[in-house]
Amino acid sequence: MSTTGTNGMPRRSFITTMAVGGVGASLAAAGSARAAGITPGDAAILRFVAAIEQVEWDLWQQYAELVNNNPAFNKAMTSIDPDMAAYVQQNTNDEFSHQAFLNDYLISLNLEPVDLDPFRNLPSSPATGAEQVGRLTNLMNLNVDTSWYFRYRSSGNPDFGNSFGQVVKIVNRPSIPLRDNYTANQILAIANTAVLHFSTVEQGGTSLYPELSLKATSLEVLRVLAGIGSSEAWHFAIWDDDAGNLPAVNSGDGLVFPPPPQANKVFPTPCTFISPTLPRCAVARPTNPALNGPKAVVKFFTQMNLFSGQVSGFFTTLNQLAAAAEAAQRQI
Ligand SMILES: [Fe+2]
Ligand SMILES: [Fe+2]
Repeated sequence: MSTTGTNGMPRRSFITTMAVGGVGASLAAAGSARAAGITPGDAAILRFVAAIEQVEWDLWQQYAELVNNNPAFNKAMTSIDPDMAAYVQQNTNDEFSHQAFLNDYLISLNLEPVDLDPFRNLPSSPATGAEQVGRLTNLMNLNVDTSWYFRYRSSGNPDFGNSFGQVVKIVNRPSIPLRDNYTANQILAIANTAVLHFSTVEQGGTSLYPELSLKATSLEVLRVLAGIGSSEAWHFAIWDDDAGNLPAVNSGDGLVFPPPPQANKVFPTPCTFISPTLPRCAVARPTNPALNGPKAVVKFFTQMNLFSGQVSGFFTTLNQLAAAAEAAQRQI
């Protein structure tokens, strides 16, 4: 297994690889002082997002390898957006930074980090460009929920019971090339699936962090959640824009993309927020724990087939982290 992450950055924690003493000791001392304000609920929230960010980094890493190094996929993705390879690499780098920061932040507070590396056992795509290493996530037979497309283009809010249809029905389809000899329409349909999957994942993060922020007690933990959460919204906005650029295509093997409706309506349409009696407001939604809390996020990823083939221990670990974070409550 590789010991380096994206762009050669070390996968392993900076702090854990340091000898006890020197800079490590002073970081730990500073952390102990800050840790005084951290509740068990705060720790559970941090550990859950550390796990989710490892999941995100794993899937983005697969996309980055294939967009950069698979010529047919690169061509199809670049036809959607000439900046695609750069954007995918930057999103991947951001996810690397999120999981690396969160684990070292936990360690700096003398809290236990989360390591999903033992579950990196899923296969890589055999297509040109993919490193042959174990993966946490499976991008080979995804169910991609695209209801966010209409949710953010309407004044509805799931927190108030609104629901939305699919812009295209993507069931049991790959979002990465699984071989090298696709037709032009087939690889374009895979590229379209990838872009909608990017948005699906990032809209989830965009809702998750504000939801978790409501449970944080420590102001510093709240600062961490707000800071990372705003970058997830940044990711989502870019992919939502590209989702409006997707070319209409018939894969010829069962997947038909229509021209995207309301293509350039990419800013969040003001919606009902807090109370229907208040003016509509442009916000991330949902932020209701029942709809996008930790347990709901794990269920969403699981139903997406993102963890298809994972061992039961993986689900046990993730569900335990989600349950602990779900139970966190703000202490005043
Ligand atoms: Fe992230
Ligand atoms: Fe993200």
